[in-house]
Amino acid sequence: AAVKTYQFDVQVKNVSRLCHAKPIVTVNGMFPGPTIYVREGDRLLINVTNHAHYNMSIHWHGLKQYRNGWADGPAYITQCPVQTEQSYTYDINVTGQRGTLWWHAHIFWLRATVYGAIVIMPKQGSPYPFPQPDFEFNLLLGEWWNDDVEEVVKQGNKLGLPPKMSDAHTINGKPGPLFPCPEKHTHAIEFEQGKTYLLRIINAALNDELFFAISGHSMTVVEADAVYTKPFSTESILIAPGQTTNVVIRANQVPGRYFIAARPFMDAGLPIDNRTAIAILQYKGIQNTVIPSLPQLPALNDTSSALNYNSKLRSLNSPQFPCNVPLKVDRRLFYTIGLGVNPCPTCQNGTQLTASLNNITFVMPHVGLLQAHYSSVKGVFTTDFPDRPPTPFNYTGATFTNLQTTQSQLPRLSKIAFNSTVELVLQDTNLLSVESHPFHLHGYNFYVVGTGVGNFDSKKDPAKFNLVDPPERNTVGVPTGGWTAIRFRADNPGVWFMHCHLELHTGWGLKTAFVVEDGPHPDHTVLPPPKDLPPC
Ligand code: C2O
Repeated sequence: AAVKTYQFDVQVKNVSRLCHAKPIVTVNGMFPGPTIYVREGDRLLINVTNHAHYNMSIHWHGLKQYRNGWADGPAYITQCPVQTEQSYTYDINVTGQRGTLWWHAHIFWLRATVYGAIVIMPKQGSPYPFPQPDFEFNLLLGEWWNDDVEEVVKQGNKLGLPPKMSDAHTINGKPGPLFPCPEKHTHAIEFEQGKTYLLRIINAALNDELFFAISGHSMTVVEADAVYTKPFSTESILIAPGQTTNVVIRANQVPGRYFIAARPFMDAGLPIDNRTAIAILQYKGIQNTVIPSLPQLPALNDTSSALNYNSKLRSLNSPQFPCNVPLKVDRRLFYTIGLGVNPCPTCQNGTQLTASLNNITFVMPHVGLLQAHYSSVKGVFTTDFPDRPPTPFNYTGATFTNLQTTQSQLPRLSKIAFNSTVELVLQDTNLLSVESHPFHLHGYNFYVVGTGVGNFDSKKDPAKFNLVDPPERNTVGVPTGGWTAIRFRADNPGVWFMHCHLELHTGWGLKTAFVVEDGPHPDHTVLPPPKDLPPC
């Protein structure tokens, strides 16, 4: 296996969008940041040197980091941040995975501008399980604020309100023709008639689940979250923050210009954000100046399109890429998702927004949880996170009083026995909830065995679980007023973060972590920490 090295210099740079320049945090002065190319089985050494006056930490979203949470990146979970003018080398073995993933800052809201693609090529001689495309492109969907993002968040917190919405959605950092100054900031890709293209689509937006479509062209979905899927054809895809989707598309239309578009899915939310990011798809050799039309995107609140799209995602489940969904469950967890309001004496209106899992609002520690676990340091966290909410009730009915958010002194985590099989049902509640929650688990892929609207029924719903070819992912949407059930085998020891990938909700405390214990065999233990692990 080869060793691939990358140098990531974190630096502030002036970047202009929407006719407006501002300093942003970047990697190597690029926005979006550099793409990491690696082959399955290779070792990655990424040296991050921080020249910015912000603490930094980078997460390699979807890389499993077997026994090696030290390279996972979430600040104060697996490491302390890399401070100004300090360096840290992420040492990652890319084993058993191939496809599209991405990396992003995992501290505060810095991922607004600090993100990039990870492309893992399959092993030599191991072709894609679909016709080999001629060319490929990465398309990273994101959000842009004209104001300094840190200020935006501070302002929201001070008022006890959600921070100001972003000013644009972007494709590869560019908003496109529906926003100011499009002549400078529209991303374009070129197609050659008759060729086949692989598009690697990444949702790096902070707070919006997005529909994505290309006018005149249908797409074949072949992979989600770096796992091959049963191919299916679709006019649009749905992609939540954190998720990645690979589609194959044929350049078989009248040569000309077409629009690539991304727009939010607001679920049960108010149609407050209908801004569309656009990039251009242009056929080679065309001098065509006709303005293309927008592709057919599902309506903003088209829940049935969303459910329908998600129901088509299936594991490939072939002899070479089997589906290993656990059939027997050792540990059943049921977590309620709540958003609420807490008193806040320092906030302008005396309250602040807050979020919880099983009524618990996660408290961020000031030292790394993985270090504390590895060295058995006491008094950093407790392992009494409840397996279910304190009192069962009608989660999606009008029962505001039964769900509260409580703050503890220390972060409360859940301890999981090595190699046990876990089923986790995430149940949304009606408490202020207006959008689906994309839940991301670090250190693992999981199987999405079921989802539904209303209250999860532990008697009836498990009978409908898909235990044959459920999709395998690292991030899954929990529908508004509904539930999603996932299963995984806890074979990766360490401390693994799990959170809503809407930055807004993560910030309010919609997160927790699992402590997966070491196994009895020395090969089933957390590896020793690297020498240059940033000190706290
Ligand atoms: Cu993509 Cu914990 O994040």
